[in-house]
Amino acid sequence: MSTVAVVPGSFDPVTLGHLDVIERAAGLFDEVHVLVVHNPGKEALFPIAQRVTLLERSISEAQLPGKIVVTSWSVGLLVDYCTDVGATVLVKGIRSQVDVTYETPMAIVNRNLAGIETVFLLPDPANAHVSSSLVRQVAALGGDVAPYVPPAVAAYLAQTELP
Ligand code: PNS
Repeated sequence: MSTVAVVPGSFDPVTLGHLDVIERAAGLFDEVHVLVVHNPGKEALFPIAQRVTLLERSISEAQLPGKIVVTSWSVGLLVDYCTDVGATVLVKGIRSQVDVTYETPMAIVNRNLAGIETVFLLPDPANAHVSSSLVRQVAALGGDVAPYVPPAVAAYLAQTELP
C-alpha cells in the first residue's frame, strides 16, 4: 500500500529550508502533497494562490524527485484534507527547540482529531536560521534574499514591491 504524506505550512514564501524538507519527504513517502494552509495566527504577506505558484516553480526548477503535488486548503482542519486524499502522515521540519515547542501541541491535536501521525525531519543545519518571516523582513528592507530562497522566489521578490 502506498503512503501519502502532507507537508503543510504557510510558505509565505517558500524558503530553501522548506524545499529541503519537501525533498526529504519525497524520498521517504510514495506521494507528497505540499499544502499551503492559512495559519489563523499569522498575517500573511502573499495571497495563497501566489504561494502555490512560487512552490510549483521552486519544486520544478530544483527538479525534486518523486511524486509531489502542490495545492492549498482553507476550508477546515488540516486533518480533513489528509482524510480526503488518504494521507496518513504529516511532515514538519524541526530547526530548533523553539520549533519542537511550537509543533508538539499541533502534532498531538492532529493525532487526536484523526489519527494522523506527524513525522519530524531534521533539515540541513545550513538552513537552521532561515525562516519566511526573516525573508519577508530582509526583502522589504531591500536586502538580498538569494541565499535563503529558491531562485524563482528571489526573482519574484526582486520584481515585487513589498509593503
Ligand atoms: O508554516 P506554519 O505557519 O508554521 O504552518 C502552520 C499550519 C498552517 C500548518 C497550522 O497553522 C495548521 O495546521 N493550520 C490549519 C488549521 C488546523 O487544522 N488547526 C488545528 C490543528 S493544529
